Amino acid sequence: MALERTLSIIKPDAVAKNVIGEIYTRFEKAGLKVVASKMKQLSKAEAEGFYAVHRERPFFNALVEFMISGPVMIQVLEGEGAVLKNRDLMGATNPKEAAAGTIRADFADSIDANAVHGSDSLENAAVEIAYFFPATDVYAR
Ligand code: PPS
Repeated sequence: MALERTLSIIKPDAVAKNVIGEIYTRFEKAGLKVVASKMKQLSKAEAEGFYAVHRERPFFNALVEFMISGPVMIQVLEGEGAVLKNRDLMGATNPKEAAAGTIRADFADSIDANAVHGSDSLENAAVEIAYFFPATDVYAR
């Protein structure tokens, strides 16, 4: 399997629940390294830009409002097959459908407030990482 990087966001609901450390532990136990990170209050324009691909979806405005409702923790994860590995750790978008032991099953309350974001492809990961981090702020480890 190839060494990959993926973008992860711990969303405002999970930051408010004070489970950043528990989620980081799951990344580390799965062999994913944090190679960049920052806590950030997204502006409306930043959230709209990040989710621009979903602009026509009925939940777009609610998603943007939720993502700016408090600070988020943004990180780049590196590891073998990092994109899929992170998606597996996250669980299904709707926490009611998320497998037991996944981040969303354990920490998310609803599909609107579902604890984490993770890039869904290697191609999108590169775009999403560049959206938040200049290359000089991502560290080889
Ligand atoms: S896609 O295109 O199939 O990947 O779409 P999906 O993963 O289902 O959802 C895209 C993002 O929108 C969020 N989402 C929602 N937000 C609010 N309300 C509803 N009903 C809803 N459905 C999906 C979902 O969590 C995805 O956000 P990220 O940050 O990528 O997880």
